[in-house]
Amino acid sequence: MTDELVLRAPDNFHVHLRREPMLSLVARATTDVYRRALVMPNTDPPILDADDLVIYRDEIIHATPADFVPLMTIKLTDATTPAVIDAARVAGAVAGKVYPSGVTTGSYGGVSEFGAGSLIDVFMAMRDCGMVLCVHAEMPGVTWSVAEQSFIDDIIPDWIAYVPDLKLVVEHVSSSSAVALVKMAPDTVAATVTPMHLTLTDDDILGYRNHRGRRGLNPHNFCYPMPKTDYDRHTIREAVASGSPKFFAGDDSAPHRYQDKEAPCGCAGVFCAPASLPTYAEVFDELGCLDKLDDFAGRFGAEFYGLPLNEGTIRLVRPVGDAGIVPHYLTSPGRSQSVRCWRAGERLGWIVAREAP
Ligand code: NCD
Ligand code: ZN
Repeated sequence: MTDELVLRAPDNFHVHLRREPMLSLVARATTDVYRRALVMPNTDPPILDADDLVIYRDEIIHATPADFVPLMTIKLTDATTPAVIDAARVAGAVAGKVYPSGVTTGSYGGVSEFGAGSLIDVFMAMRDCGMVLCVHAEMPGVTWSVAEQSFIDDIIPDWIAYVPDLKLVVEHVSSSSAVALVKMAPDTVAATVTPMHLTLTDDDILGYRNHRGRRGLNPHNFCYPMPKTDYDRHTIREAVASGSPKFFAGDDSAPHRYQDKEAPCGCAGVFCAPASLPTYAEVFDELGCLDKLDDFAGRFGAEFYGLPLNEGTIRLVRPVGDAGIVPHYLTSPGRSQSVRCWRAGERLGWIVAREAP
């Protein structure tokens, strides 16, 4: 049994760092582990153009260590133009994100027209200036269990056909349909994979069993797209185990105040950052492909985005004693923000080794 893993300093190609004061509370859980992270733009207020991006990047740089590199994105809307894209690219945007309006947290005011026309002009501008299109692939108005399949079947193939060579990432794949499309599509199409979609099914949200065996709703496993069936999870696990460079790490860590999740209309989003790399390692270990974790977390995403590989390494070890227990909450000094950690109280199979100072 391997007791130590040395990986290239990893990248995380999908994270929500939020704005202050949440940003300062949660960023460290990501920056302690990941050297670079693709920072999602569905903040409040959102990141819509070059000016927003510059302000938000400064906010992040102020709140994070010097060796952390935020990879910036903008949120596409019905009002985004090719000129907005070009300016955002010059300001440093590496990707633009489509949130179908209304399908998830912070998606309001996103895209509501998916056909040809203005959106295609925007996509062509992105392709021409070397920006990646990130897609939250869920169809508005379609029930959660098939919303991703519907978007994958009805929208994405047209986009791939209309704008050849556009780099497109299906974010947080959750269904066998999405996995199949990504596998079959040209090499310009890839997917991020979260630890939740590798480990959970809908039963872990809607039919959760606590340690006493009681069954009920678990809002802290709840994210969009919802984890689905055992078969869907199996296809996602198989995709990463195959070593295909089209599937790479993007943990979708998405913190919310716990009161906002334990609510009548609880927010979608899981704060998985404290457990994300260890969970990936556990899954790869279970699948007997720990040797593939290095590329999944440190190579495939960077190569897809055309970024240099990170220098340096990170070490994972099997925890001793209580070292691997996930804390229950992260709470800000004034207690205004308190976030429940994913897998709270569980013992991780791997932890990031902290070198003695
Ligand atoms: C994300 C969030 O909270 O911003 N929520 C989620 O359930 N994943 C948004 C997103 O990525 O869908
Ligand atoms: Zn997300």
